[in-house]
Order: sequence, then C-alpha cells, then structure tokens
Amino acid sequence: LPQAVVFDLDGVITDTAEFHFLAWQQLAQKLGISIDRAFNEQLKGVNRADSLTRILQRAGQADAYTPAQRQQFMTEKNDLYRELLATLSPADILPGILPLLADLRAAGCRIGLASVSENAPQVLASLGLCDWFHFCADARALTHSKPHPEIFLTACRGLGVAPDQAIGIEDAQAGITAINASGMYSVGIGASLTGADYRLNHTGELAWPDLLAHWQAEQACP
Ligand code: G6P
Ligand code: MG
Repeated sequence: LPQAVVFDLDGVITDTAEFHFLAWQQLAQKLGISIDRAFNEQLKGVNRADSLTRILQRAGQADAYTPAQRQQFMTEKNDLYRELLATLSPADILPGILPLLADLRAAGCRIGLASVSENAPQVLASLGLCDWFHFCADARALTHSKPHPEIFLTACRGLGVAPDQAIGIEDAQAGITAINASGMYSVGIGASLTGADYRLNHTGELAWPDLLAHWQAEQACP
C-alpha cells in the first residue's frame, strides 16, 4: 500500500485554477498583454512572483518595471483573485475528491497538501476540508516553486513518509515534473499533461481501487 497521497490544490481539489487565470488575465490586460488559456498552462503550479515574470517575459517586458511596481501588480492580482474566492464553499469541491479522501482515511493512508499558493489555507477552510489533511506544506516557507521538487519533498517529510512510498496528484505540467523529480508516483489530471505515471482527464475518474492497482503495478514492474 502507498503510505501517503499528496494533493495539489488549485485545479485538483477545486477549480481555483480558473480563478487564478481570470485574475492574471485582468492584470495582464491592464499592462497591454493578452494571455489565453493555452499560455495559462505554463502558469499552473508556478508561484505568484514567477507567474508575473512569465507574463512580462511573454510580452518582452521582463525589465520594464521596478521591484516596487511588480510588487504592486502582484498585490492587484491577489486582490482580484481573493474577490473571486469570496463565494467558494464546500459545493465547489471537484467530483471524486471527497470519496477519495474517505477511502484514503479508511485505508490508513496519510494525506498531504502541496500547493505553492499562499491562499491555500483559506481555500481549504472555505471548502471545509482542513480536517482531512495530516500535513499541509507552508507555501511561504519554500525557496523554490514547482517544477522544483521542494514542496513535494517537504510534504513527504511532514507526513513522515519516504517519497517512493507516496503518490502525488497534479493538474499542472510543472507539478508533474516536480513529483517525478521527488521520486514519488505521479498522477496527472488533464488531457494535455505529459510524463505522468498515471493520467486521467478529470477528477471524477479518480478512484482509490484504480489508483492502488496502478501504483502496485509500478512497484512490481518499475
Ligand atoms: C498555485 C496555482 C498558481 C498560483 C500559485 C500561487 O500553484 O496553480 O496558479 O499562481 O499557486 O498562488 P497565490 O495564491 O500564492 O498567488
Ligand atoms: Mg494546480
């Protein structure tokens, strides 16, 4: 049996990935930069400062603003994002997540969170999910954003589990790269993801017996 499952938050547990996109899009528009959902795939799993850098780089504006201006842009984006968060409730938990959490608990599997979002504690609270998690990595204490494995290694350490005995679930390409680099087993949610050990199109397809069977097959035949 795997000893732990570590979840990404935005886009896996709830659809806040869309809120992040809408908020960045609005800020970018103000700066005369247009971003679409295809480009947004490169922002998923990437922290706030690095996301801004990627948006500015896209428009050749990497050096156009002072650190104080960039800070202001990040604050504006976060204010927009938090406005969108205001309506979040347990009804916004994506399909398949609650049954999986219940099955993991029943199986004695430890449950972790690996989100680089500084808003993660509030999102989890709005969804009413805090009590399910044995350990949530603190985004503010990280040095690196995904695709660096730091956050997944931190989560495994916090759970007291070796990475090769744990599963990570992600909707971001940067997240899959991070999980793979950590030595965990990677589960990808999304049609366009590459490199995941096991990939599904939607969270509704997540089922503990299937996950377990795929993980066990990997242990037998790495
Ligand atoms: C997650 C999301 C990103 C977001 C990042 C930082 O990784 O996938 O889209 O930019 O968190 O979130 P924050 O709430 O701290 O701005
Ligand atoms: Mg995500």
